[in-house]
Formats: sequence, structure tokens, C-alpha cells
Amino acid sequence: MHTTVGIIGGGPSGLLLARLLHRAGIDCVVLESRDRAYVEQRQRAGILEQSTVDALREAGAAGRLDAEGLVHDGIELRWDGGRSHRVDFPSLTSGRRVWVYAQTEVVKDLVALQLADGPPLRFGAKAVSVEGVETDRPVVTYVHEGRTKTLTCDYVVGCDGFHGVARAAVPDTARTTYERVYPYSWLGILADVPPSCEELIYAHSSRGFALHSMRSPEVSRLYLQVPNGTDPSTWSDAQIWDELDFRFARRGWTLARGPITAKNVLPMRSSVTEPMRFGRLFLAGDAAHIVPPTGAKGLNLAAADVVVLARALVRWHTTGSTDPLDAYSDTCLRRVWRAEHFSWFMTTTLHTDPEQSGFDTRLQVSQLDRIASSPHAEGELAMNYAGLPIT
Ligand code: APR
Ligand code: PHB
Repeated sequence: MHTTVGIIGGGPSGLLLARLLHRAGIDCVVLESRDRAYVEQRQRAGILEQSTVDALREAGAAGRLDAEGLVHDGIELRWDGGRSHRVDFPSLTSGRRVWVYAQTEVVKDLVALQLADGPPLRFGAKAVSVEGVETDRPVVTYVHEGRTKTLTCDYVVGCDGFHGVARAAVPDTARTTYERVYPYSWLGILADVPPSCEELIYAHSSRGFALHSMRSPEVSRLYLQVPNGTDPSTWSDAQIWDELDFRFARRGWTLARGPITAKNVLPMRSSVTEPMRFGRLFLAGDAAHIVPPTGAKGLNLAAADVVVLARALVRWHTTGSTDPLDAYSDTCLRRVWRAEHFSWFMTTTLHTDPEQSGFDTRLQVSQLDRIASSPHAEGELAMNYAGLPIT
């Protein structure tokens, strides 16, 4: 089988790219190794920045988002045993804001559209190799329904996440990966209890970080910093709620409790692979970069990559010019490194490294004090959190 753009991976990157290309009349095929139920239930991020919402609207995939998504105009920071400051987004970013709408819902919306309207979405199709990326006919070999098949393409896009095969198709000598692993993880819970605050709360405390988020007016999503390697089953519900109470402590505010319906531990790492393009193979989303979740950038960076790539492929398809394709990697990496820095900044400012000194803690408190007292420092956080325009 031949297609213009072969897309490996049916997560947010691959699905949004397929939607944008399909609407532009460029044929493509999505190969997804797992089944529909798996990709739609994977608990991941929950924050869509302005540019991602704009892209989903452009793709005709924002109907439910606009109906059910929660618009958020700010976040609250807490630190130093009760200090609090709300960062407002629209007033500091000329109107940009974020939406609370789980990645699971974005994936469900995109899958439903693609199954109804095309392009082909093959579940249970595991790519095993990408060859010929330096020729004009790269070939993806994949296993589907027990048979080995091939897909010849004009271009291949690796949207197959951090553990996919696409990145490996770039010779070691042609790529560089920059990494940082953080000395802590997040224990995340879903709880059947209305959120205790209308917005997100990011809390720095002497015992570590905590985050109050949500999935709907009825479901809370909360995280607390734990040591790497923590087994979620070693934390009882009561211990989780008690620890969250300590870390969010603020006079006159209480954290509502309810049945915990899911617990998971996620590690924290930063990673960037350069370049994001090799011959006729492009990397997008987690296949190219990973951020710690503190800045809520993972899904949004993935969306930005595929918006840039879709624009470039449309230019090539309509004019024959490959200039935007040739600039893809540099264009995306500028935004990637900005998001990597912001995610690192939010992570290291708000988390308590087990090895950190009292001096380090004072620096963190000083940084948080600065954000609360300087419109410039506050504005820099707001612009990065609500997301910079995709250029
Ligand atoms: N063949 C086909 N599909 C594959 C293969 C393969 N060899 N390897 C991985 N996949 C699929 C995975 O099953 C997954 O559905 O590729 C998809 C990659 O999706 P994500 O990992 O979600 O990556 P991406 O689409 O870039 O979205 C990034 O997802 O992981 C979160 O935090 C991340 O929010 C960010 C977002
Ligand atoms: C979430 O709701 O899952 C979430 C929100 C903000 C973050 C990370 C995760 O920074």
C-alpha cells in the first residue's frame, strides 16, 4: 500500500496530524499498535493551552471541548506555609487562557472523527521498522492482523512516543539526545469529589510538591511528589489525603475528600532528540521530546509540532516548495527548548529535591515571592503557561 504521509502512532500527535492533513486533502495512514480502548483510556495530561485549542478548532475537532471543556484564566501558587498568589493569564498575555480537558477526551474526539471520516486508522498495527528514509520512497514495515505488511510513503512521521521505533530509524551518528532525570516522581490520583478550588493549585512545601487539578466539576485530579520508585499501593487513601492537606495548607481553605478511583506513579524526565527530521522521516511529539508534567506542556508541544508540520506539508503539496519542511526541525526546536526550560523552571522551583540544602529552599521561596511581587516575573510565567503563539 502507498500513501503520501505514513504516520506511526495514534496518540494526540498522530491523530491531530492526520486530521489536519485530511482536511487539506493530503492522503495519509495512521498505524497504531494498541487497540482503541487502550489509547482512549490512557490517563495523561489535562491542560490545553490556547494554541492547542485553536488547532483543534481548525481541525474541526473541538465541538465537545467547547461544550464541556473548563476555561481557566489562571492558576494559584502556594508556598512558605500558607502564602498564596493567583497568576492571571488574560491580563498578562493579551487574552490567552487554558482549557481543562483531559487528553483521553482529545484522543476520543479525534479517533471518532477519523473512524467516521477518514483517513485510515489501523489499530493493532505495530510498526517494526522504517527504512529508506534517505530515499524518496521510505517504507514502513508493520505487523497487522498477524501478517507483516509494508506501507510505502512520500514522507513518514514518527508520532510513536518515547518508546517508539521511528527515532531509532535515525542513525545514532545523526542524532543527539539531551536528557535530565529528576530525583522524584508524582503520585497521581483521580477522586470522585468536586474540586476544592475552581482553578489549579501548585504548592511548594517543606515535604514536597502537590498539585490540585480536575477532570470535571465532579472529579478531582491531584498529584503529590514522591520518591522515585514509589509503589502507589504503599499509600493508603487516608495517607494521601493527609499529605495533600499538609502540602496545600492555607488558612480558611480545606481540601474536600472522596473515593479515590485511580492511583498511578509517573516519573519525571526531560529529553530532547535533535534533529527532529532525518531525510523523509519527521519526529513529532513524545517521539522527539519529553517534559516533566509540571508545566503541562507535553500534549501542547506535540500539538505545536504537528501544526508546524501540517503547514509545511500543505505548502509542499500545493507549491512543491520544501522550504518549510526543511525548516521544520529548527522551527519546532525553538519552541521545544522554550517549553523544556519552562517545565524545568516550574519543576525545580516547586519540588523539594531530597538532596537540596536550606540555601536551595530559600532560593525557591525567593523566586515564588518574586512572581507574587513582580508583574514582569508573573507575566513571564503566564505567557509560558498559557502558551506562545505557534510561528
Ligand atoms: N507502531 C505503532 N504505534 C506505536 C508504536 C509502533 N511501533 N510505538 C508506539 N506506538 C503508539 C503508542 O501506542 C501510542 O498510542 O504511538 C502512540 C504514541 O502516543 P503518545 O505516547 O501519547 O505520544 P504523542 O502522540 O506524541 O502525545 C504526547 O502523550 O504521553 C503523552 O505526556 C505525553 O501528553 C503528551 C502526549
Ligand atoms: C492534570 O490535570 O493532569 C495536570 C494539570 C497541570 C499539570 C500537570 C497535570 O501541570
